Amino acid sequence: MNYCGLNQTSNEINRAAEKGTHKTVNNGILEIGGVSCEKLVSACGTPLFVYDEAAIEEQLRSYKEHFRSDNFETEIIYASKSFTCIAMLQLLKKYGFGLDVVSGGELHIAAHADFPMDHVYFHGNNKTWDELELALNLGCKTIIVDNDMECRMLVDIAERMKKPVNVMIRVNPGVTAHTHKYIITGDMDSKFGVALNDENLILGMIGLLQSSRYLSFEGLHAHIGSQIFDLRAYDALIERMIKRIKKLITEHKIEIKALDLGGGFGVRYTEDDKPKSIREVCQRIIAKCEAELKANDLCLHKLMIEPGRSIAAEAGYTLYRVGFMKRTPNVSYLFVDGGMTDNIRKALYDALYECDLANKMGLKKSVKYTVAGKCCESGDILIENVMLPEAEPGDILVVYGTGAYCYSMASNYNRLNKPAVVFVKDGKARIVIKRESYTDQLRFETDKEVIV
Ligand code: LLP
Repeated sequence: MNYCGLNQTSNEINRAAEKGTHKTVNNGILEIGGVSCEKLVSACGTPLFVYDEAAIEEQLRSYKEHFRSDNFETEIIYASKSFTCIAMLQLLKKYGFGLDVVSGGELHIAAHADFPMDHVYFHGNNKTWDELELALNLGCKTIIVDNDMECRMLVDIAERMKKPVNVMIRVNPGVTAHTHKYIITGDMDSKFGVALNDENLILGMIGLLQSSRYLSFEGLHAHIGSQIFDLRAYDALIERMIKRIKKLITEHKIEIKALDLGGGFGVRYTEDDKPKSIREVCQRIIAKCEAELKANDLCLHKLMIEPGRSIAAEAGYTLYRVGFMKRTPNVSYLFVDGGMTDNIRKALYDALYECDLANKMGLKKSVKYTVAGKCCESGDILIENVMLPEAEPGDILVVYGTGAYCYSMASNYNRLNKPAVVFVKDGKARIVIKRESYTDQLRFETDKEVIV
């Protein structure tokens, strides 16, 4: 391979200069956070998740700077389902974020990272007794109850444990947002939340919560979808939520302190994605809330949002080694040493990604490849019809924008080991999650008899 005379193309320079990304090309090799991808893969192996720590921090700073109001308190609650590990939780702590958890496991890792439990919000449509007990034991400050059965169970648990906890009710506002459009629908069939229109059910739940000595009803929560670009969906959400809050306050004399609008802010996976900046998103939501509150003559103590993807996605990269290649009558396959086990999003949602050969940056992209993984599944495709330089076994394929919902949705299908995760910053790399080994995968195997 000859890299002599390779120059960074203007496209690459533009990409490197994009806000929140710190990638450059040095002698034809991609560097992330000042660390060469060749060095990363020779030190840590492949597949490898690489997070540009400074890019995560830029997103965190931007949310902190712009999600503010003079009229009410604000809190930004990171959705840990998008990507969580202790190193990530440390960053969130440093920047004063709250944390959205949806399971005992996410709670456990938060506790392990000494995440302040006052800022942990426990979501989920089917929390178990054990998970709720764990949350109360750990001192988790706020539970977002999803349905009336959960509400009754939580009252029961809090009474038995004599532990106080704040409660919000998740409502389904009838605003559904898909990638490029939003719809307002009368269809209330989501598995999440109680229908915002079902006033009796909401009143019943609030009454139940208020009857408990230990539970304090704080307000309403909604989440309308993910990878949303059209901010009018949030305008519609805010209008609906504030209308309902007004009714609850004025007609039913219920105190509503907090409103949580969920997450879902879109990111750039490919050049067709044109997300609004964090500044624009935050300012628009804050301005709309302020305007609606004023128009309805209402005060709110606190407004929250729950971004996940928009913090983690674009800071993350996956590095693979290219293995075999194969031509069929219509397709040139390029096989990599991971696949749907570390990125299920193409198979599950037909998600689109961009990629490069990280050791051949700037070379002419002359071949159209379909990048496929190594799993026994025809659907194990990562990217279709992508132009790349002529590839050889041993090349490094980098897939961009894999920081959210890839590691967190990884599996051991075909008994593949889960990849390692590294954080890079200022020319240094640190492993934050070790690569799984075959021995790790044996740790739950047992031949003990169970007498039932
Ligand atoms: N809050 C709640 C209640 C949520 O359910 C979610 C995401 C978020 C916040 C964060 O949404 P974000 O800002 O990350 O879009 N696995 C799918 C995404 C599922 C999102 C589930 N809920 C994917 O890979 O696209």
